Amino acid sequence: MRVHRLKSVPSTNAEGLRLAALGEFAPLWVVAEEQTAGKGRSGRAWASVPGNLYASLLIRPSCPPAQLGELSLVAGVSVIESIRASAGDRTVAGLRLKWPNDILVGTAKLGGILVESTDAGGSRAAVIGIGINLAGHPEGLGRAATDLAHEGLTLTPLKMLDFLGASMDTWLAIWDDGRGFATVRQAWQDRGGPMGEALSVNTGNGPVAGRYMGLGANGELLLEDETGELRRYTFGDVTVLAG
Ligand code: BTN
Repeated sequence: MRVHRLKSVPSTNAEGLRLAALGEFAPLWVVAEEQTAGKGRSGRAWASVPGNLYASLLIRPSCPPAQLGELSLVAGVSVIESIRASAGDRTVAGLRLKWPNDILVGTAKLGGILVESTDAGGSRAAVIGIGINLAGHPEGLGRAATDLAHEGLTLTPLKMLDFLGASMDTWLAIWDDGRGFATVRQAWQDRGGPMGEALSVNTGNGPVAGRYMGLGANGELLLEDETGELRRYTFGDVTVLAG
């Protein structure tokens, strides 16, 4: 796999988008030891803790733009599989996905995914940004976080990237520019929370509580609210509720 290694960069996603606009060949991984302006979802910052993985994969998918969001789910499945592969005989108990793109151990955040795209540079490019807490995790975010070392698994960023690169190759091939999304969706559900799990979703208008009912055909979150109505979400922040 082609890897562009950097010591420090504002954001590997921003760097991937910049290279895409310059006509860079795909696929290309951009990986950095440190980000000085790491991006999280919804305009949030992503802290740079030394020894963690900060990587972005530049690809040029040929699916319709509306299907680019599926890449979050492709990446989520790939991250879980790469951690499992790196663990060998060991298991990371409680490793799971939370819609749309969080990697959790129990309810603590282990990693996140941010997919961005650009049409600059001639053909459409997508940049799949992945942050995995390997050696440490930020404190004081107002929600639980963890890292793989804390879970008993010690990995360097480049070793993790080897596993991640292999599993992204596998799952991007299964996704097949969107044609194989049904398989990805099922794989995501198998690695997400249990059906009926109590969740709350906030799209910016206050939280809505309900029960998780799986993913819709396009990867949207299905939630049965307290009145029994089935709601569909294409964006929003999800909290796993106890019980
Ligand atoms: C989130 O959970 O909010 C998404 C976090 C995504 C972080 C990764 S780290 C590598 C890549 N570069 C960035 O600036 N962000 C993503």
